[in-house]
Amino acid sequence: MAIRDVLRMGDARLLRHAQKVGQFATPQLFDLLADMRDTMRALDGAGLAAPQIGVDLRVVIFGVHANARYPDAETVPDTVLINPVITPLDDALEEDWEGCLSVPGMRGMVPRYRNVRYQGMDEYGALIDRTVSGFHARVVQHECDHLDGILYPMRIRDFSRFGFTDILFPGRDLQDE
Ligand code: NI
Repeated sequence: MAIRDVLRMGDARLLRHAQKVGQFATPQLFDLLADMRDTMRALDGAGLAAPQIGVDLRVVIFGVHANARYPDAETVPDTVLINPVITPLDDALEEDWEGCLSVPGMRGMVPRYRNVRYQGMDEYGALIDRTVSGFHARVVQHECDHLDGILYPMRIRDFSRFGFTDILFPGRDLQDE
């Protein structure tokens, strides 16, 4: 398939409320997912939402694998999530650094719910229903925000903790979402 251009912050298409997917297991949906996977891998991202490649649909992918350089990093299973619904399980918030392929070269400290349940469909229409916490919960919330036109800088509370990745974390090779 193809590596697609990722829209960058400032592009009005990133601000739309994306449309629900109505049909599953279609060639069009498989092609979209192939392009999303190719694009995410080419850019070494942790996740990607369809609106980031200009496709106005409620489709996200994500996945974080073990990395020899960061053996203690939490992993997240490769997931296709369509028409997602996120339900926080309590009021607990957790702040951590995030990056985004649509905001290249930057990092910000973002509060997210620590514990969430997420539901949705995979590309075949099979139900996904998971209860997760920590980094996995953060990645899901970040990606699903893209479906409602929200980029992580819009959630930053303390702008003294927003900056360029190479200045904030010299020498580190971090993934974006
Ligand atoms: Ni992002």
